[in-house]
Amino acid sequence: AMESGVAKTIITDWEAYELELQERIGIDQRLMLRVVTRAKKNPKRVVFAEADNVKILKAAQILKDERIAIPILLGRKEKIEEIIQENNLDLTGVQIVDPYTDDERLTKYGNILFEKRKRKGLTPKECFRLMRDRNYFGSMMVELGEADALISGLTKDYPKTILPALQVIGVKEGTDRVAGMYIMNTERGPFFFSDTTVNVNPTAEQLVEIIGLTANGVKFFDIDPKVAILSYSNFGSAKGEVATKTAKATALAKAKYPDMVIEGEMQANVALNEEIQQENYPFSSLIGNRTNTLIFPDLSSGNIAYKLLSELGHAEAIGPVLLGMNKPVHILQLGSSIREIINMVAIAVVDAQTKGIK
Ligand code: ACO
Repeated sequence: AMESGVAKTIITDWEAYELELQERIGIDQRLMLRVVTRAKKNPKRVVFAEADNVKILKAAQILKDERIAIPILLGRKEKIEEIIQENNLDLTGVQIVDPYTDDERLTKYGNILFEKRKRKGLTPKECFRLMRDRNYFGSMMVELGEADALISGLTKDYPKTILPALQVIGVKEGTDRVAGMYIMNTERGPFFFSDTTVNVNPTAEQLVEIIGLTANGVKFFDIDPKVAILSYSNFGSAKGEVATKTAKATALAKAKYPDMVIEGEMQANVALNEEIQQENYPFSSLIGNRTNTLIFPDLSSGNIAYKLLSELGHAEAIGPVLLGMNKPVHILQLGSSIREIINMVAIAVVDAQTKGIK
């Protein structure tokens, strides 16, 4: 059923095609359909660190059939083949890389890791051992250009997945921070939430970096960021560490990005309700500029907000889009659905096409 005639012909009517795609792969958000169609114009090699997982393999099947990405399956070959057979999948021609039997690669990668980490407390022996962790192995494939993007995190917690990528691939030049952004598809359109996954308690200066990364992430989706810096305080109305920090971040961010619409610090309802702003804060630069980007003061508030909204608010959460890595790496939320995996892979492919989200 997945075999599509459309993918093999030259597509001229993208609008009609998007509608057809929507029916075939079950993604019904225009924003993501646009990303998927962009991915299909130039599919990239995406290595799956958790290819011994049935959801990953089912997603790989769709990605292959729809020509959204060129999957590379990382894991024990027999186990992957067994799952493919059990589920009647057809992944003929898809490369399987078995890190446990590829001694040549393990040695090569281990040596490169040692070169990178020898002054960070790692011995050669530890580097060879770490290479048996597929997050290290997969990151190294991307680092060496043997794959264009890495997708991982379905079965492991976030810190365990991101640390190998940070150590092997690292942050983009000119940045020293990464952050995680979610796209919340709501009844009022898409909103971008950040940082929802990485920085536990950023300083005001680090919030400014997060704003820069997030703004680039929003532009990646062809949307102009209109940024609200959230707090429990409205423009100096309350005291406390977070109020002070977010007020300082607002001043610093406005100075650093004078051309960007940035406002704060403010409560979430104020950010999303222009009437309240007009009535009480008529100086707000978000008036007339529909807020679409919400910057949270810390990881707890960002993470809790997006999860509440996706459980209670009829909003689809797409992400987390990892911002600031030197090469495309995207870490799935634990237990993502097949559709969520496809969304993330499409983002990773377009990320690779544009050589990384800044
Ligand atoms: N941006 C860029 N690089 C970073 C960052 C960052 N925010 N934080 C740490 N690093 C780098 C460090 O510079 C260091 O590099 P080096 O080894 O080359 O010098 C390396 O990562 C390790 O640094 P540590 O300080 O040892 O790492 P830390 O213990 O701070 O761990 C981590 C970093 C894993 C990102 C940590 O901050 C963390 O656990 N964050 C929360 C993640 C999480 O649990 N999120 C919530 C769930 S996600 C979800 O809901 C989908």
